[in-house]
Amino acid sequence: MALNATRPAATLPPGIIGVHALPADHHDGPWDSIITPSGVKDRLLGTALLVLRHGRALGELNGAPHGLILLSGPPGTGKTTLCQGLAQKVALALAPRGATTFVEIDPHAFPSDMLGEGPRAIGRLFSDSLPELAARRPHTVVLVDEIEAMAVRRSTASFETNPVDVHRATDALLSGLDLLRRTCPQVLVLGTTNFAAAVDEAFLDRADLVLRLGLPDRPTVERILREALAEAAAVFPGLLAVALDDELIADLADRCTGLDGRRVRKLVLAAMGSHPELASDPGRLTGEHLRAAADAERAALAEARSR
Ligand SMILES: Nc1ncnc2c1ncn2[C@@H]1O[C@H](COP(=O)(O)OP(=O)(O)OP(=O)(O)O)[C@@H](O)[C@H]1O
Ligand SMILES: [Mg+2]
Repeated sequence: MALNATRPAATLPPGIIGVHALPADHHDGPWDSIITPSGVKDRLLGTALLVLRHGRALGELNGAPHGLILLSGPPGTGKTTLCQGLAQKVALALAPRGATTFVEIDPHAFPSDMLGEGPRAIGRLFSDSLPELAARRPHTVVLVDEIEAMAVRRSTASFETNPVDVHRATDALLSGLDLLRRTCPQVLVLGTTNFAAAVDEAFLDRADLVLRLGLPDRPTVERILREALAEAAAVFPGLLAVALDDELIADLADRCTGLDGRRVRKLVLAAMGSHPELASDPGRLTGEHLRAAADAERAALAEARSR
């Protein structure tokens, strides 16, 4: 198999939905596409490099790292994209010492209602599948997106509403992480969650870094809009004047502040799709279409909040 190929899901062990060899050119992009407050990317990259480069040596310390980073925050704030970007970024930094394997895990793939099968599968993931993958290259980054599905907070998960396997799954995850740390200190686990309050305390406690990504502030909203319009203008040159209209972009940023990053980035698409005529000729998009789309997004958000 070619080094940079992505293995088809059918041949992957249970729960693993992607295995990539990094660095790879087509993984460039996500890291720079997410705009974060200053210091956030440095802390992420610093913690990741420390674990991947010195995990074995640091394992000797009493306060050894667990090799676990958690990103929490509302939907659409760039958590998954930033993790994907981080994997490529550390792989680039570590490339002189060898390649990095990036493994994606689907925490929903472990059944919670099949007489212990879910927790057993989680155990096998950490005792067999991940160590086997980690043995292939000098560095390994594992992403568990929406980790609250696997790390359910046991103190609030009642046995009446949650099958006993939900509790056992959290136990299996915690002991799996501890085992992985002992056997493969060069593995970094990244987790994301919308609900930090639903994540087990012992899991949170193991994290070397917990970062909360919030809604983008106004300057960030403006930058996202500027980028989104520039990208659209590269495809539809008729949009060039709109993409360079500073006054319009400032006005749109005012209207979009309060929306998450995903909704802001999708504003241009939402405006293009607002009329069939525009959809067939998006180069005719005007500032008025964009303002109307921004107001519609705000109204939808207000309605969702009032429900
Ligand atoms: N701070 C940001 N800067 C630039 N773009 C952003 C930002 N936040 C979100 N986006 C845009 O939103 C898209 C969606 O982000 P992503 O899927 O990573 O969010 P998420 O936090 O994982 O959401 P969810 O919790 O719903 O899974 C990104 O690809 C990006 O285009
Ligand atoms: Mg996500």
